[in-house]
Amino acid sequence: MHQPHQPAPAPTPAHHDHHDHHDHHGHHAPATDTDWSALAAFLEREGELNTPAFAQAAQWLGELVDGASVGRVLDVGSGPGVVAGLLADVFPAAEVVAVDQSAALLARAEARSSGRVATQQADLPAEFGLLGAADLIWSSQAVHHLGDQQAALTALAGSLRPGGLLAVAERGLPLRFLPRDFGLGRPGLQARLDAAHEDGFAAMRAQLPGVIEEVEDWPAMLSRAGLTPAGSRTFLVEWPAPLAAPAREHLYGHLDRRRAQLEESLDAADLATLDALLDRDAPTGILARPDAFYLAAITVHTARAEG
Ligand SMILES: C[S@@+](CC[C@H](N)C(=O)[O-])C[C@H]1O[C@@H](n2cnc3c(N)ncnc32)[C@H](O)[C@@H]1O
Repeated sequence: MHQPHQPAPAPTPAHHDHHDHHDHHGHHAPATDTDWSALAAFLEREGELNTPAFAQAAQWLGELVDGASVGRVLDVGSGPGVVAGLLADVFPAAEVVAVDQSAALLARAEARSSGRVATQQADLPAEFGLLGAADLIWSSQAVHHLGDQQAALTALAGSLRPGGLLAVAERGLPLRFLPRDFGLGRPGLQARLDAAHEDGFAAMRAQLPGVIEEVEDWPAMLSRAGLTPAGSRTFLVEWPAPLAAPAREHLYGHLDRRRAQLEESLDAADLATLDALLDRDAPTGILARPDAFYLAAITVHTARAEG
């Protein structure tokens, strides 16, 4: 598998930087503080690394709908619009619109799409009304940033034309990128990072405006939004070791963010291990070590409006 050519590495955030991305919230990184625009390069590179899975997902959506009848496609919470571009490829006749609150991210979506992707700035949930009607709505790792996830799904369902399809990518599996024992510190670091992150994620959600605790059964939530579930699938991304430089830079950014978010949740030994991985010059750092890989799993839940 060829590793993708990536844009230039994002500037490395400082350890006090509490910026965050989709599933990585520390106690000190409430979503309301997240500067999504500043994460443009990080999100774009992540999207490109995940493109093998996103492309398969887009193909699957093409099988679930009658492509000829798809006139308008939305990517809601599009970020830099990597998936919007893939959907434009699968639905060449459709108008594809990237929707996000961040003008900077929408500018990236526009720039990378050669004119195929239009943009709509919308601050959700207040501006759901700006979305307009669509035959296919995709939303990846965005609904969980809204306080009332059920209301968000119901609003998205309300934007579907008759027979339209809603596809929501939420959760999946945590990223894996090193062996359980990689020779530094106590084995199992990634599992401990994930556990600490779960607490941070809950803290992030608890601070969202209008938060409602919801059992995260996405097909059931889609049903309650008035839709008929049309299947859930998980798509893998695997970039084996040895990683190319862009994937390493992405992992560096990921670990650097975790270091900042979880500073008060991890013990001193795990923080020291993170610092060793974040040593840009050491052969054991994430930028140089031969055992680093990239393994991700993206789960997509779909549901259809009445025809
Ligand atoms: C984790 S990123 C996901 C980006 C992309 N969909 C992906 O899967 O890589 C979350 C995106 O949702 C957007 N977002 C977060 N809260 C939002 C809100 N209240 N209204 C509109 N967009 C929002 C952010 O600007 C960001 O681009």
